[in-house]
Amino acid sequence: MSVSVVVGSQWGDEGKAKVIDCLALRSDIIVRFQGGANAGHTVIVDGDKFIFHLVPSGIMYPGKVCVVGNGVVFDAEQFLREVDELSAKGISVDGRLMVSDIAHLVLPYHKAQDQVGESNMGGKKIGTTGRGIGPAYADKVSRNGIRVGDLARWDEFAAKLEANLQRKKAEVKAVFGHDLDVGLDELIETYRVIRKRILPFVGNTAQYIHTALGSGKKVLCEGAQGTFLDIDHGTYPFVTSSNTIAGAVCSGAGIGPSAVENVIGIVKAYTTRVGNGPFPTELGGTLGDFIREEGSEYGATTGRPRRCGWFDSVMLRKAVQVNGMTHMALTKLDVLNKLDEIQICTHYEVNGQKQDFFPSYLTDKDTIAPVYETVPGWKQDTAGCTALSQLPKNARVYIDRLRELCHGVAILMVSVGPQRDQTIEVEPLP
Ligand code: GDP
Ligand code: IMO
Ligand code: MG
Repeated sequence: MSVSVVVGSQWGDEGKAKVIDCLALRSDIIVRFQGGANAGHTVIVDGDKFIFHLVPSGIMYPGKVCVVGNGVVFDAEQFLREVDELSAKGISVDGRLMVSDIAHLVLPYHKAQDQVGESNMGGKKIGTTGRGIGPAYADKVSRNGIRVGDLARWDEFAAKLEANLQRKKAEVKAVFGHDLDVGLDELIETYRVIRKRILPFVGNTAQYIHTALGSGKKVLCEGAQGTFLDIDHGTYPFVTSSNTIAGAVCSGAGIGPSAVENVIGIVKAYTTRVGNGPFPTELGGTLGDFIREEGSEYGATTGRPRRCGWFDSVMLRKAVQVNGMTHMALTKLDVLNKLDEIQICTHYEVNGQKQDFFPSYLTDKDTIAPVYETVPGWKQDTAGCTALSQLPKNARVYIDRLRELCHGVAILMVSVGPQRDQTIEVEPLP
């Protein structure tokens, strides 16, 4: 059985989609297994930019089958927008895009609830994407959710929608004193139309994946967000509402752990975060601004400027462990090309004590001071490099040091630009 899992190892936006796009060529099926339209996955093909929120990034290759697994919270309207954008660009998804019948729907009242909730948090805002992710997962876990397969039984679906909307309105009114601006008639009408377009995509995706694996097909699983946005292992409460680590593929796609051969952690050569929450190696001032501009670090989903900082090996060591990473793919090395010196966080001082592992619990009173070592920059363009040996010496020294600090995990590839061909393959790709 050949299953490879790609996960973000920091706070998301590591360049997962670019790596997925490279690996998809060698795979048969590409599967999203958690998160929802909070993800913004950018693929650039022949200078054309595609940003996927729900459709797996492998869709760019004709002949590959893409699956939205049961662990995803599924925004049907957003999904159809992506399908339409693809078809407007001449990319057909017919017969090669499937959505799990047991994935939970994100409905307009979830998005409204997300936004009302955030706007009432005062100084404690998470900085969510406003895509309804938290409320949709909350409904799933509290067993009030509506699933994609429910669309097949219209009368029951409409009744559930009405009951849920009434309950939501009452809850939001009671908690926030706010009238949720979602009308039942409009909602019913929208979904009456949408269901006819969605149902042909819907099926038993876990069974489909197992049949495919049994006949020797290769499955590539596309994680969304990143390890430090994981609901358990991330910087709670400044996290998303799903498990984002590699293990989530088991529940989110119905694949057993023994089937997973490769876990590829996507590692940005520096660190970014969008939204609120702790960020020990964050750079303020001109250096942070410089990295943001060099790396075009603006959110692919919300357009928000991403916070930028130095590479943090303390985070990465934890990411290697909780994901069981077999490989790392290092991205956006080129963004550092112009710097005289680069800093690498080797460990922290937490409340004045040296610590080389990431704290599992942080309170407002804890202080984390990153401890850095400084390495020289390479001050050279790397965009045309197609082999490690072509990289400037100091860039190779930087990569070797990162690897050494990250439990020596093998580096699969190094990305030196957003285009497909700006990729250095280091190890044989799975
Ligand atoms: P994802 O959410 O992890 O898939 O990442 P995003 O798509 O949100 O953000 C990554 C951004 O960096 C996108 O704009 C990519 O086109 C771009 N990108 C990916 N790899 C590289 C790289 O090696 N160098 C540069 N300069 N840009 C890259
Ligand atoms: P990709 O897959 C970066 C962040 C939000 C916020 C927190 C909770 O593109 O890497 P949510 O809307 O999920 O309830 O927001 O999580 N967040 C992301 N940050 N990349 C993402 O996805 C993210 N998805 C959610 O900014 O801080
Ligand atoms: Mg992104």
